[in-house]
Amino acid sequence: MSTLPFDVLTRGDLKDDVFPVIAPVPAAGSKGMSLKFEIHPATNPTSEKERAARLVDPGFGRIFTDHMAVVRYDQAKGWHGAVVEPRANFSLDPAAAVLHYAQEIFEGLKAYKREDGGVNLFRPDANARRFSNSAERMAMAPLPEPVFIEAVEQVVRIDRAWMPGGEGSLYLRPFMIASEVFLGVKPSAEYIFAVIASPVGSYFKGGPAPVSIWVSENYTRAAIGGTGAIKCGGNYAASLRAQAEAIDHGCDQVVFLDAVERRYIEDLGGMNVFFVFDDGSMLTPPLGTILPGITRDSIIALAGDSGTRVREEAYTIDQWRADAASGKLKEAFACGTAAVISPIGKVCSASGDFLIGGGAAGPVAMGLRNTLVDIQYGRAADPHNWIRKLL
Ligand SMILES: Cc1ncc(COP(=O)(O)O)c(C=O)c1O
Repeated sequence: MSTLPFDVLTRGDLKDDVFPVIAPVPAAGSKGMSLKFEIHPATNPTSEKERAARLVDPGFGRIFTDHMAVVRYDQAKGWHGAVVEPRANFSLDPAAAVLHYAQEIFEGLKAYKREDGGVNLFRPDANARRFSNSAERMAMAPLPEPVFIEAVEQVVRIDRAWMPGGEGSLYLRPFMIASEVFLGVKPSAEYIFAVIASPVGSYFKGGPAPVSIWVSENYTRAAIGGTGAIKCGGNYAASLRAQAEAIDHGCDQVVFLDAVERRYIEDLGGMNVFFVFDDGSMLTPPLGTILPGITRDSIIALAGDSGTRVREEAYTIDQWRADAASGKLKEAFACGTAAVISPIGKVCSASGDFLIGGGAAGPVAMGLRNTLVDIQYGRAADPHNWIRKLL
C-alpha cells in the first residue's frame, strides 16, 4: 500500500472483489444496447407565462428546462433505470468519488427550431462518439452510444416548449459522474449519466462581433498523454485561472500554447481556432492534445465543399504575429458549439498586442458561420447528413 496520506490503490493491490476491473470500452460507434426510458412528467411544470418571461433573454447556461434524463450504472446491473423525470437535485454521499477525484465527463450539443416548427439536432452521433472516447480515457463505464442519443432526444421531446425561437437554441448537456462511495483512488464502480437542457441566446455578449483573446504564457491546457483531447471537467477547472488572466487583461477569451515548446497555438478555453490566409487557404492546429471539436470538423468539411484547402498543421504565436503584420493572415476565428464561429479581432499577450484584419469580422468567418447556421436551422441543404430531425 502507498505511504501517501490517502489510500492510493495500485495495480498490485488489484483484487477483483474489492477493485473490479472495468470492462473494455466497445469499439467507437458500436451498436451497443439501447434502453427503454420510463417517462415521469413533472406534475407542476413551469407555467407558460413564466417560461415566456425566462425565454426573453436567456443568456447562456443560466436557465433550465423542467426535465432531465438519468441512467445509472453499477457492476451488478450494468446501465439501468433509464428515466426522464422532473429536474431535481441529486443526492450524493459526501464520499462519492467524483467529489474527490473528479472522475467526470460531459458533452455539449444543441437542438435548433426549424421554421416549420420542427426541431433539428446537429451531429448527436459525433457527441456520443466523443463521449465514449472521454469515458475510455477516464476509465469510466462505457455508455452505449444509442443510450446517449436516446437520452438527448427524450429531453428535447419532453421540453420542446422551451425551444427559443430566432437564433436561440436548446443547449443540451449530457454528463457522467462517478458515484461510488469510496475514498480509494480507483475507477468508480458506479456512475450516474444525465442530460439536462438550457435554452440559450448568444454565447458571447456581443453576438458574433470580433472577440479579443489573451495568449496564456503562464499556464498550459494539455500535454501529450494527458486529457486535452477529451471533455472532462478537470480540463475546464484548470483553465479558469488562465481565463481570469484574460479577463484581467481586458480580453474575452484565453488561447493556450503547447505544453512542450510553449509556442504552438492549441485551442481556446472552450473553442478551436482557424486561420485564413491571403491565398484563400486555411489552417487549424492538428488533433492530438486539442479537443476534436465537432464544429471544427464541420468547418473543415464545409471549406472542402467550396474547394478551400484546410491544413491541419502546427502554427506558432510568432508566426501568427508576423503574418498579421505582413497582411498574409486575413482572418482568424474561434469555433465551437456554443458560439458557432466568433471572429478574432485582437490578440493580446505579455509581449504586445496585434490586430487581425483591422479588428473587424472577416468575410470567410462570417460566410462559414452563415452556411453552418443555415444547415443547423434547416434553412439550407444538409449535404453531409448532419441533421437528425426530431420533431
Ligand atoms: C477546449 C474546447 N475546444 C474546442 C471546443 C469545440 O468543440 P465543439 O465544436 O464540439 O463544441 C470545445 C467545446 O466543447 C472545447 O471545450
